[in-house]
Amino acid sequence: MSSQKETIRRKTVPQLAARKGGEPIVSLTSYHAHTAAIVDKYADFILVGDSLGMVMHGMESTVGVPLDLMIMHGKAVVRGTRSAVIVVDMPFGTYEESPAMAFRNAAKIMKETQCQAVKLEGGARMAETIRYLVERGIPVMAHVGLTPQSVNTMGGFKVQGRDEAAWQVHINDAKAVADAGAFAVVVEGVVEDLADKITAAVDIPTIGIGASVNCDGQILVLEDMLGLNPWTPKFVKVYGQLGPMIEDSVKRYAEDVKSRAFPTEDEVYR
Ligand code: KIV
Repeated sequence: MSSQKETIRRKTVPQLAARKGGEPIVSLTSYHAHTAAIVDKYADFILVGDSLGMVMHGMESTVGVPLDLMIMHGKAVVRGTRSAVIVVDMPFGTYEESPAMAFRNAAKIMKETQCQAVKLEGGARMAETIRYLVERGIPVMAHVGLTPQSVNTMGGFKVQGRDEAAWQVHINDAKAVADAGAFAVVVEGVVEDLADKITAAVDIPTIGIGASVNCDGQILVLEDMLGLNPWTPKFVKVYGQLGPMIEDSVKRYAEDVKSRAFPTEDEVYR
């Protein structure tokens, strides 16, 4: 008996890093094997983001997301894809304490999911940890600006950089993660001019979300851009209306069941 294993040729982390200033990097989140397979046809990288706690599991923030949940969804997305780089978020509480703790959990994520990189939140304060991981073979995507895991210290999901006096802190954060070896950095929820300054200040690709069209790439949460959530922030362009479509389908199904219009001849076994 011979087993034929299909060769999967994914894009690579160095290929993404080399896209600085080039063709914009396309990325979306995914948490599910079959939707990831669709996204995989168009995205350079797919993020298994901890936003899954909010958009899939109804949590109020990402703070409560456990490591095992990230690993479970990470495995599904890796199984469903063959082309995009898969990046898995390190959830709150799994990396901040020490570089060694971050390594243990990042290695667990990579071994169990077979993803190609991890993402963690924070600028200068996480630089030592990023260097530690990268030196030990773990590609890291950083995340600066509005960092949702810090929602409680920020007092809400607040756009950053409205006060120009604080810009240098954010620019220094992006420089620190780039110097530490991050291969790309998500820039979330900052005013447009600050996003442009960050993009100009670092030699790694910036991936914007609620940032600027001049970032080196863009990312959105899939469920947001598909219109699956009852509310979406200003920075989301809604490309589909899956919420109303699901409701209409469920309503018609319920009507058919009640009127015995389903199942028909076509849907029963003889
Ligand atoms: O968790 C997530 O979906 C993210 C994106 C918003 C970048 O971190």
